[in-house]
Amino acid sequence: MNMISKIEEALIEYLPSKDCIEKKLIESMEYSLMAGGKRIRPCLVLEFSHLCGGDLNQAMPFACGVEMIHTYSLIHDDLPCMDDDDYRRGRKANHIVYGEDTALLAGDALQALAFEIMSSSATEENAYRATKAVAVLAKYCGAVGMVGGQVIDLTYEDKTANIDVLREMDSKKTSGLIKAACEMGCIIGGATHRQVQAARDFGESIGIAFQIMDDILDVVADEKKLGKPTGSDAGNNKSTYVSLLGLEKCKLLIDELTDKAIKSLENFSGDITGLKDLALKLASRDY
Ligand code: IPE
Ligand code: IPE
Ligand code: MG
Ligand code: MG
Ligand code: MG
Repeated sequence: MNMISKIEEALIEYLPSKDCIEKKLIESMEYSLMAGGKRIRPCLVLEFSHLCGGDLNQAMPFACGVEMIHTYSLIHDDLPCMDDDDYRRGRKANHIVYGEDTALLAGDALQALAFEIMSSSATEENAYRATKAVAVLAKYCGAVGMVGGQVIDLTYEDKTANIDVLREMDSKKTSGLIKAACEMGCIIGGATHRQVQAARDFGESIGIAFQIMDDILDVVADEKKLGKPTGSDAGNNKSTYVSLLGLEKCKLLIDELTDKAIKSLENFSGDITGLKDLALKLASRDY
């Protein structure tokens, strides 16, 4: 079975039973969580854990945890009070199907479930690593991470952000969870301090490159293939790398960041092919 199938099998297992009064909530969590998506963040957890000699079963709750947090961030990102987008992962956005109230609560519940599955995977043997990994994700998804970045994003709607603000915004809203995934994999796998730092540098660089590509695709992609609306950023008067620097400069920047990310992998002695290929694939993606 390939890595994405294993992740999806684990994700569905973690969802609570629908045999309850709040069945609609669980259905709406499942609707967004199991709608596909590239599963980049969980793959990064598993790749880094494997690179550092970690066990797949110990890393899986952390892979699923970051994907649940990411899915919650997408459900909330699409709400009318944020980007107001109607499509996501090739289907109608969560709030279009289940209503804003349930979509908001499904996001909240996915976040809580993420922390439940990660912390309850701790055993006497790996409790220290598990606690460290949970703390990393908590930091990167909160006020100084993804949520903080989303606030910067909304603050600069209808205003022009300068390049430093954009870098900080993307570092928080997008590199945040990507760095968390890389670091968590290392921690669970038992990496050295220097390797955790290198994984953080890798995540920071591919995360910025990933958001620049996301901004490019918002302008040039085929909406059907992308699975979400194009033109959303322009429609909301967002400041993006594309609006500030133009498409050509953005493409050069993605290549530079990808090279930098791949260089950080020199700190690992194992087989880095999987991570190198992933970074290169992300830099030339069209969805
Ligand atoms: C979209 O993330 C939101 C951003 C941070 C740019 P992805 O492009 O990873 O979305 P899915 O998981 O594949 O749907
Ligand atoms: C969102 O950035 C990043 C998140 C933290 C969800 P975007 O608003 O550009 O993501 P998309 O394009 O809607 O996926
Ligand atoms: Mg947004
Ligand atoms: Mg959006
Ligand atoms: Mg976008």
